[in-house]
Amino acid sequence: MLKKWLNESNYTVIYTGAGMSTESGLPDFRSAGSGLWNQKDPSKIASTTALNDNVSEFIAFYRDRVLGVRDYKPHKGHDILAEWEKQGVIQSIITQNVDGFHQRAGSNQVAELHGTLQKLHCQSCGREYSSEEYIDQEYYCSCGGVLRPSIVLFGESLPQDAFDFALKETEKSDLFIVLGSSLSVTPANQFPLIAKEKGAKLVIVNRDETDFDAIADEVINGREIGKVLMELDQDQ
Ligand code: APR
Repeated sequence: MLKKWLNESNYTVIYTGAGMSTESGLPDFRSAGSGLWNQKDPSKIASTTALNDNVSEFIAFYRDRVLGVRDYKPHKGHDILAEWEKQGVIQSIITQNVDGFHQRAGSNQVAELHGTLQKLHCQSCGREYSSEEYIDQEYYCSCGGVLRPSIVLFGESLPQDAFDFALKETEKSDLFIVLGSSLSVTPANQFPLIAKEKGAKLVIVNRDETDFDAIADEVINGREIGKVLMELDQDQ
């Protein structure tokens, strides 16, 4: 049905999670075995308390992720989504990912709900830096404050502009397609629900089952996102 709906819809919004970038080589968070949160407790590493109480482990963890984003690149699935935006097949992307791969592949209408690893800012004065600072092992601001990635840590609120854009796009959608998210983190996981409540068709493409599968109009489990997008692209 997804092929048919994609061709018939007037306003298609794509919602991506870490499963969108595993085929680029970046680990996701909750896949059995390989997910990052299988090795680390997120509350002890991806939180402001970790930044205050555990700064060397915090910096080591995020420097690794900044290096990963620099050393890997968008895959064919990201390219297809960028192409579809140009062709008017889809209207926007709401992403939980912080790798910037949608923009690197050429997508423009992108809401980064959880911020980006491309930038750092000082935890004390807020001054912005490039993530190159971490690569050069520079970890402190000229004011003496510690530099942290401009991503949303557990316990922090989502960037208002990204949230507002995502809400507006979700409310306009008549087809809302989730790609590669366990939908286990609030408030980011509310958007598929809002789309459904507003009458959009909800499709979830995710290797593992999610708690939202029961309300979806179509669920594609057990398949790789890249292949699903390539098959759909053949019919565009
Ligand atoms: N094809 C299809 N599905 C995939 C693929 C793939 N190639 N790779 C992984 N998946 C699926 C997994 O089955 C998993 O359920 O993607 C999902 C990714 O889920 P999570 O690892 O929980 O990632 P995500 O949903 O993006 O996490 C949300 O949690 O820690 C926070 O801020 C972090 O933005 C992140 C948020």
